[in-house]
Amino acid sequence: MCGISGIVSQQAISGDLFESIRNLEYRGYDSCGVAIVNRHGLVVRKDIGTVEEVNRRVPLTEIEGSVGIAHTRWATHGAVTQANAHPHTSCAADFAVVHNGIIGNYRYLREELVSEGHEFRSSTDTEVIVHLIEKYHRSMGSLERAFVKALGRLEGSYAVAMVSLHEPDRIYCARFESPLLIGTRADATYLGSDVNAFLGFTRSVIALEDGQYAILLPGQVCVKDIATRQMQAKTVLDVDWNVESAQKGGHPHFMIKEIHEQPQTVIQAGEVDTAAIDGLADMMARHRRTYLVGVGTTFYVAQMAQYYFSSLARTFIPVISSDEFRSLAQVDADTLVIAISQSGETYDTLDAIRFAKERGARTAAVCNTMGASLTRLVDHAIIQGSGPEICVVSTKAALGQIVVLLRVAAALGRLSGATDRAETVMRDLRALPDAIQQLLDERTGDIAALAKRHCHIRHWLFLGRGIYYPVALESALKMKEVTYLHAEGMPAGFLKHGTLSLIDEGFFTVILAPSKEEGALYTATMGNAEEVKARGGYLIGSLADENGELFDEQIRLPKAPPLLAPLLHLVALQLFAYFTAVALQRNVDRPRSLAKSVTVG
Ligand code: F6R
Repeated sequence: MCGISGIVSQQAISGDLFESIRNLEYRGYDSCGVAIVNRHGLVVRKDIGTVEEVNRRVPLTEIEGSVGIAHTRWATHGAVTQANAHPHTSCAADFAVVHNGIIGNYRYLREELVSEGHEFRSSTDTEVIVHLIEKYHRSMGSLERAFVKALGRLEGSYAVAMVSLHEPDRIYCARFESPLLIGTRADATYLGSDVNAFLGFTRSVIALEDGQYAILLPGQVCVKDIATRQMQAKTVLDVDWNVESAQKGGHPHFMIKEIHEQPQTVIQAGEVDTAAIDGLADMMARHRRTYLVGVGTTFYVAQMAQYYFSSLARTFIPVISSDEFRSLAQVDADTLVIAISQSGETYDTLDAIRFAKERGARTAAVCNTMGASLTRLVDHAIIQGSGPEICVVSTKAALGQIVVLLRVAAALGRLSGATDRAETVMRDLRALPDAIQQLLDERTGDIAALAKRHCHIRHWLFLGRGIYYPVALESALKMKEVTYLHAEGMPAGFLKHGTLSLIDEGFFTVILAPSKEEGALYTATMGNAEEVKARGGYLIGSLADENGELFDEQIRLPKAPPLLAPLLHLVALQLFAYFTAVALQRNVDRPRSLAKSVTVG
């Protein structure tokens, strides 16, 4: 979704503000802009394009002034145009506002404001906010009261920041169901949709809560409640991410850097405090029913975890896509809902948790982002410690979540007496980082060459059985989101129930094959491979055991124990999607139409 940033300092800020939205660009990148207050007035520069492109056209880094806000947009209401880019200004150009979220009643508000003489320049929902502030400031005089009054008229979700000529030394900001963090330092205060906005300047963070607004001055933050205007206590968190971890470190793209970080991701997930893991297993054991929820990649992570719970704890855990949770889940006080989210800000996942809480359920989360809304909403949060994930598509964060949930499944298994299984898998897990490293060291070249050879193929099928099935789904998602090719994942056994009719020489199939030691699972998967072969389909095997007779080509993986081998397939097929996208010259880190952290429903 969109990225908001802001800086209040005693020094010139335009260079830092530019850096800040550049670091937020993965949240949205169709247009951007800044508004800085200085002795000449309110300077607003904005245009369509990336932050770099816009800076070349309308220099953002050469604006005088020490108080400003900025925005990088992912269009929801209104096309991608210069007029629709943020910041938006009032009729008298004395206020500028940036916003993330959706104002549900904007049409009604717009009509009201137009009938009162306000002139709109954009077709965004955001613009009503700045005109409302202008309207109430005219009638009330006080800027703070006008800001709060305007917020009270909004229905929907928002993270909003405002600068004004009337109080040129400060930023006003507020949030409701859309993330907003404040970074503090002795001589300056920062604002961001996430910490990447100001990681280069400070790691001390105040997370604004829903229904709060804040007034930011250099080195000073005042947090208040929107409903009562009473001062609120602030908790300052220390974020342990560093600037280097949010940079490419010599790799051409964040995606490949993040794929390569995965041996470390497994180690970090293995180091998550055992008490937090056992605590979640204990909660599961104490509730009649547990649901796992996630959306997109995290839905597939939940599905992979489902197999771990079945195998290690002999428990069936229902998995629901967050956006379907309200329609499907049966929630009461004896229910536990575990949400999985990299950002901790995904609208649908937060909504599922809110729904669960309203019905008296207990809630938990596995999340990568300290201080995120999700972690503050749930009863028990596990921070997976995978470090910043900048590429829009999720790779290492997903793997980190799977490892955390594998540990929870083993802990639940132990509680139900399956101690040997739990211990075996935990011992095996110690070897996983090396196995992934070996795969990256030895197979990257082959996978890149394979991807290059077949990048012209427009249709891809990914098939797997057992836990390989959700890995196939995730591999298809990676492929389509980063290459824009058609890719479908499905249970291999499903094939002959319809999809087999698609198979021809233009439709390539990747089979995720378990090792021969898995007996029936191996045999059944090979049976499905035969079905594809018999219809003249081109077959690529992702497998540890050589099988040159059946497969046209192979992605050979290091051997690993049954519960961990699927994770090697996951990594190999991330590489395959990446190199296909590179061969097609796609915008790997920022695929078209996508944004990291989907904060609207
Ligand atoms: C796919 C991807 C998305 C996210 C989904 C949930 O590569 O990144 O499908 O997994 O939008 O996002 P989080 O994990 O932030 O809740």
